Amino acid sequence: MTFDIQKIRTDFPILSKKVYGKQLIYLDNGATTQKPQKVIDRISRIYSQTNSNIHRGVHFLSEKTTSDYENARNTVKKFINAKSEKEIIFTKGTTDAINLVAFSLGEYCVNEGDEIIVSQSEHHSNIVPWQLLCERKKAKLKVIPINEKGELIIEEYKKLLNEKTKIVSVAHVSNSLGIVHDIKTVTDEAHKYNAYVLIDAAQSVQHIKTDVQKLDCDFYTFSGHKIYAETGIGVLYGKEKILEKMPPYQGGGDMIKSVSFEKTTYAELPLKFEAGTSNYVGAISIATAMDYITEIGLENIAKYEAELLEYATQKLSSVNGLKIYGTSKNKAGAISFLLNDIHPYDAGMILDKLGIAIRTGTHCAEPTMKFFSIQGTARASFAFYNTKEEIDTLYKGLLRVQKMFGK
Ligand code: ALA
Repeated sequence: MTFDIQKIRTDFPILSKKVYGKQLIYLDNGATTQKPQKVIDRISRIYSQTNSNIHRGVHFLSEKTTSDYENARNTVKKFINAKSEKEIIFTKGTTDAINLVAFSLGEYCVNEGDEIIVSQSEHHSNIVPWQLLCERKKAKLKVIPINEKGELIIEEYKKLLNEKTKIVSVAHVSNSLGIVHDIKTVTDEAHKYNAYVLIDAAQSVQHIKTDVQKLDCDFYTFSGHKIYAETGIGVLYGKEKILEKMPPYQGGGDMIKSVSFEKTTYAELPLKFEAGTSNYVGAISIATAMDYITEIGLENIAKYEAELLEYATQKLSSVNGLKIYGTSKNKAGAISFLLNDIHPYDAGMILDKLGIAIRTGTHCAEPTMKFFSIQGTARASFAFYNTKEEIDTLYKGLLRVQKMFGK
């Protein structure tokens, strides 16, 4: 399929919306993405035609929804090239998945004095679950430093690794700066010490094609709502042989084989980690979104988004007094910036009145902000339905903000 941006834009009904009488320009895709009509229709079709709880009924609707849910698991498996459906666990989202791994893998292999490694540029959801684990197990959290461009300093990372390292957890793309990290090197280096590696792909799975087998990471996780599907649903990929060894995270229906007061036994993978009625509608919506992306081609999307990011970087850099944070060449999806000494919140409020939606603040990445000695940034984050014309409007909006502040 050729990349037809006008056609693509019509697939997303919200993009034609006006806010405050202005055409909406949605540049907050790092926070959540908009949904194509196909996904909206799929969700609506489930509730109007096939809705029923999964894995529980013998009746027609339950069997239909169960098979749609399991087919969705297969679609996800293919999308990231996992070996088996058993390796695909549906969670509430990336945060839920990281908490699952921090608890369950922590129970399995982390003891007093062991070490966990994250990086300075992680989202809070890839820091706090590990801090909780370290508190629980009296383990130590170590931090890979970043340089002024926002890149992980790999030489320093290598020095942090040793026999006590049990888990390394890093984002593929940092949410606050949009830096693409060298996760292959991170993974290979950790494996030299038999440490497990989790990749937070919340900001990458929608931008960069990833083959989990080639990458050889042990865990890989992302959220539905950032890949054009529903919220409250996400995916945890884990290597089968490791998931087998990990104890359950939450107890409840669906994750058991048999329950008695004497001895409860647990379900096989992947259900062992899917306690309670899961968000099956959300899971199916992920498959629909992935089918939609695959039709366009993730490589085509990546190519278009790279051009867009390059254009936006040049355009924003030409604004006097604008400073970009995160200047590595390897970037995807986002530009974080400050405009003179104007508070990002003020800039965001004025842009909003012009119809332009961006995110402002710490982006749930306070340690990254601390590294740059700033309180926060304004962040424009892109999807493949954004256009150069929208970036031009953002540029004009930023000049307007400066004018209002007398800059
Ligand atoms: N983690 C999301 C973001 O970066 C919400 O905006």
